[in-house]
Amino acid sequence: MYYSQEVLEQVRSSNDIVDVISRYLPLKQKGSSYFGLCPFHNEDTPSFSVSRDRQLFYCFGCGAAGNVISFVMQIEGCDFVDAVKKLADWANITLPEPEFSKEAAEEEKIRKNIYDMHRAAGRFFYEKLHSEEGKTALEYIEKRQIKQNIQKKFGLGYSPKGRDELYRHLKSKGFNDADILKSGLVLENKYGKGYHDRFYDRLMFPIIDLQGRIIGFGGRIMEKGEPKYLNSPETVVFSKKRNLYGLNFAKESKKKEIIICEGYMDMISIYQAGYHNVAASLGTAFNIEHANLLKKLVSDIILVFDSDKAGETAALRAIPILVSAGLRVKVLQVPDGKDPDEFIKLNGSAEFGKLLVDAINYMDFQINCVKKKYNMENDEHRVLFTQEAAKLLSQLESPVERDVYAKKIAMETRISDSAVSDEITKVKEKTDKEFMDKAAIKRIRQYSETSVSDSMQNSKGIQQAQRNLIYLAMNHADVYEKIKNIVKPQDYIDDVYIRLAKFVYEACDKGKNIHPADTVNIFELPDEQKKAAEAFALRLDFESVRDMEKAVNEIVKLIKRTKIDAQVAKADSVEMLTELINEKKKMDNLYIKL
Ligand code: CTP
Ligand code: MN
Repeated sequence: MYYSQEVLEQVRSSNDIVDVISRYLPLKQKGSSYFGLCPFHNEDTPSFSVSRDRQLFYCFGCGAAGNVISFVMQIEGCDFVDAVKKLADWANITLPEPEFSKEAAEEEKIRKNIYDMHRAAGRFFYEKLHSEEGKTALEYIEKRQIKQNIQKKFGLGYSPKGRDELYRHLKSKGFNDADILKSGLVLENKYGKGYHDRFYDRLMFPIIDLQGRIIGFGGRIMEKGEPKYLNSPETVVFSKKRNLYGLNFAKESKKKEIIICEGYMDMISIYQAGYHNVAASLGTAFNIEHANLLKKLVSDIILVFDSDKAGETAALRAIPILVSAGLRVKVLQVPDGKDPDEFIKLNGSAEFGKLLVDAINYMDFQINCVKKKYNMENDEHRVLFTQEAAKLLSQLESPVERDVYAKKIAMETRISDSAVSDEITKVKEKTDKEFMDKAAIKRIRQYSETSVSDSMQNSKGIQQAQRNLIYLAMNHADVYEKIKNIVKPQDYIDDVYIRLAKFVYEACDKGKNIHPADTVNIFELPDEQKKAAEAFALRLDFESVRDMEKAVNEIVKLIKRTKIDAQVAKADSVEMLTELINEKKKMDNLYIKL
């Protein structure tokens, strides 16, 4: 779905970014910019800046960036089209009907239908719970001590015993069989014709996304039986890998940390105990997409796991994933073989609060887990423990942290500080070397490999170089004239910058003035918008033409060389390779004079 660039420019320019952002948070003017506390990460000192002349925002803390449309998308958690609608409304602009490609229109219709069906199903289950049929389910909920306001808040429901009641209900609301099947709520009968509900005679937990839409359900059996929990399948609106149960509520709590637990009931119990910043994984292992999703909302995670072996394993598996996403992680193991829900029922909210306060740093947790395997009175075990712990500590980026933990290990094992540190250094050097070796092997192999390493193309330097060149092309006509035939749009490395360069180059060729903030409009996804905005969010000033010339040459060479390297990796003929190597030589001798 899209609006024309003209419409987008009109909406964008009719909503001054400083005015719009001021509706959400206080801004203070400092020089030519406005500053405030960033709404996208937790901070005490303002690093969120808004520029009135460029109509862009940029956070020096978390890197959030974009124009007024991106801001509304991110703060409201809505998509591009909804943000445009909202802004048009504020500026009293009547929008034309958005245009769709045929397939996109069809897809959008199906998605909308599925959301509608889920809303209808949620209501249906809720009503059943409060009808005669739902009596035992309601008793079950009460037995599990979920208070009425919480039942309501979470929209708990009951899927009745009849095998096709929901199916018939959805039909009566006018949904067709094909769409109903796509929702995953209903299945085709194996033998013969007809359909049956996925869920029957279960307590129903609606799963709600960050936009507040029901996207799936979990259903708990109330007597003995298998499976205990049945979940919606993956559909076009529901992915277990990308959603967490209760995250919609956790987000609202606006805390700097989120508690992650294992189950639906645990999540609800912790919430009911007054800790609203809690979410649960949906019966799948924790993965990097969960971690990235969480990173957008908070800086810290408290992992709460059952005190059994399975809980410990789950925690150990989740830790590196969360840490690699840049989250600070603590771990809480519920004592006495209980899960959080049972613990809270037995000991009360306040006791659970104490556990939260006492949650330990993930590194301590990992080391404790290793320690359990060894007997510290045995010399050989002490050595093995130290070696294994050193492997964990070598992964810490910060030398200070490494030192703190090394001292702890030294104390526990009664091995000298320096010997422990040496061991860590040794492991670190070994893993660094292995990493370098792997990189070297990759380089050697690059002629046969299909793609050059992504990490290289995504490196900060190369990202920055692309941004800077686009910035310079747009702001300095003389730079543009000199580079346009050397670095063409398709010579950029990142797809976002290829599209952005195309847009900017075209405008430059036509002598059309574009506002920095309108370059963001060509993208609909927040990550793309951020990349585009980053090109213009900061001013690039040079003391002299000479400095600028130097920079232009460095940037052009970096981009071209990286691009050539990527092509070399893909080249499958000697001719092609020779040509590329010649091009690279040309690049070495190139000097652009401004
Ligand atoms: N789960 C699942 N399918 C199952 C069993 C479990 O998807 N057959 C998921 C559910 O998300 C569940 C979580 O794993 O909430 C934890 O399962 P478990 O510890 O067995 O249940 P509890 O959360 O303790 O649930 P209850 O207290 O209702 O027994
Ligand atoms: Mn339980």
